[in-house]
Amino acid sequence: MDSSSYYNKNLRFFGVHLNSLACKCAVLVVLVLVLRAVCLPRFSSFAATQHTNLFPANNSLTLNPQQLHDNANSKFLEVPQIIWGLNNQKIAFARACLTARMLNRTLLMPSLSASLFYKEVDLLKPISFDKVFQFEKFNSLCNGFVQLGRYSEVSNRSDVLELQKGSGRRWTIEKDLGQLREFSKHPYDEYEVLRIVGKNSFLWHDHWPTKDYAKVFECLVLDEEISREADKVVSRIREIGFEESRNASENGGNSALQQVRYVAIHMRIEKDWMIHCKKLEQRLNISEICSSKDQIMQRVGNIAGLQTPMVIYVAVADDLLEDKSILSGWKEGLVPYEKKKLGVLDIYKKQSYLIQSAIDYEVCLRSDVFVGNSFSTFSSLVVLDRTQKMINMGVAELCGMDVRWPSYAYNLEGESKGIPRPWAANMSDSSLQAISYGSNHISCS
Ligand SMILES: *[C@@H]1O[C@H](CO)[C@@H](O)[C@H](O)[C@H]1NC(C)=O
Ligand SMILES: *[C@@H]1O[C@H](CO)[C@@H](O)[C@H](O)[C@H]1NC(C)=O
Ligand SMILES: *[C@@H]1O[C@H](CO)[C@@H](O)[C@H](O)[C@H]1NC(C)=O
Ligand SMILES: *[C@@H]1O[C@H](CO)[C@@H](O)[C@H](O)[C@H]1NC(C)=O
Ligand SMILES: *[C@@H]1O[C@H](CO)[C@@H](O)[C@H](O)[C@H]1NC(C)=O
Ligand SMILES: *[C@@H]1O[C@H](CO)[C@@H](O)[C@H](O)[C@H]1NC(C)=O
Repeated sequence: MDSSSYYNKNLRFFGVHLNSLACKCAVLVVLVLVLRAVCLPRFSSFAATQHTNLFPANNSLTLNPQQLHDNANSKFLEVPQIIWGLNNQKIAFARACLTARMLNRTLLMPSLSASLFYKEVDLLKPISFDKVFQFEKFNSLCNGFVQLGRYSEVSNRSDVLELQKGSGRRWTIEKDLGQLREFSKHPYDEYEVLRIVGKNSFLWHDHWPTKDYAKVFECLVLDEEISREADKVVSRIREIGFEESRNASENGGNSALQQVRYVAIHMRIEKDWMIHCKKLEQRLNISEICSSKDQIMQRVGNIAGLQTPMVIYVAVADDLLEDKSILSGWKEGLVPYEKKKLGVLDIYKKQSYLIQSAIDYEVCLRSDVFVGNSFSTFSSLVVLDRTQKMINMGVAELCGMDVRWPSYAYNLEGESKGIPRPWAANMSDSSLQAISYGSNHISCS
């Protein structure tokens, strides 16, 4: 399918595009007004004390050792190395987990890929899953849903059955599902290890609803060391915002450092993307995929309620760090910074491609306002993650201006002219693809 050739070409830029959502806004507004009255004290005190609560750097979850390592009688699933951009890898990993769940097997911890040499598979630098995400925390959070195992837990390494995934036009989604059902039964269920061979799991047929993917993503907690690097970038952004507001106000500013807000924009304007998105617009007969730099700046400038001065973190492909024009032309009071101007380039430079994307992902995730492209997988997963976190916190209103952690799609126009459309993920959608790539249906209007 076409998305694969797209990924092949575009992965070097954080990989991806996105998705869609829908809006229950009318009902929600009423609901929210009621809920607000009830919940306001809690939320306002929450907001006033520490708005970083949504994305705590240190997840205080306690691990129950008994829940871990009980793979004693498990059967395992082994999958090919997971490749391409960060978000393609996350989706591929989740798909492998859900496949293992369907087969009632524990997924053997797969290798991710640190680099993006996507054509010559030999050059893909494998990196162990637990170098990027916390292994035990994953199992603890996903206990009862999906589990990861280590190769050392396999008792008989020769008790392996290979499953060749079908491919080609005639390998339909029904056939694929039929094959998985068959392999979950006797005699295939006897083998200790079922090894899937063939194409990478991002390209497997998809059989699972969005909420199952969201559940797996929730269990992915970044390795602590990487998370600390992201903390450094976020702190740097807040420090700059603090200085900007102190310099702008006569009395020296009044907000505490912790409360300084920032906007993150996943700005896809690099040449490869522009070529790709123009083609996509033609093929899909849709005009709202590509956004020029000027359009993005203009729409972001029209977001209501941004207190100025406000730091805008611009997440762009490295090629654009030399392009001075992305730092000019913003509305008065919006102060743009990218990694270079922030002085954090060295934090990124010592990391592999995969980890660099993971840091940028965190910086976007934790922003107070996020603006992305609804056709980008990177942007879509950020919004999915933000939506899920708000749902977990009991936030009822996901769309609109007054959301605590709003997201917007700059490629789609909102209700009035020149405003970007509010964006939240539709967790009840029937497939991830509908909300995460190649779509402009988003769940807010
Ligand atoms: C979410 O997706 C479901 C399933 O596709 C759909 O029925 C529903 O209308 C969507 N909700 C919104 C708010 O778009
Ligand atoms: C995270 O929490 C644990 C236990 O609550 C604590 O021991 C540890 O020091 C914390 N780590 C950081 C970086 O705050
Ligand atoms: C799943 O596997 C576990 C042990 O690995 C076994 O106890 C259980 O009966 C299996 N469930 C099904 C539905 O096959
Ligand atoms: C390991 O698996 C192979 C293949 O199924 C089987 O022939 C062999 O007896 C097994 N070894 C043990 C120690 O169970
Ligand atoms: C704030 O003002 C000081 C002193 O004029 C200046 O050195 C500093 O660069 C300014 N900071 C920002 C973020 O504009
Ligand atoms: C493309 O969409 C427009 C309106 O959205 C429609 O009028 C036109 O017929 C479509 N063209 C094709 C080739 O489908």
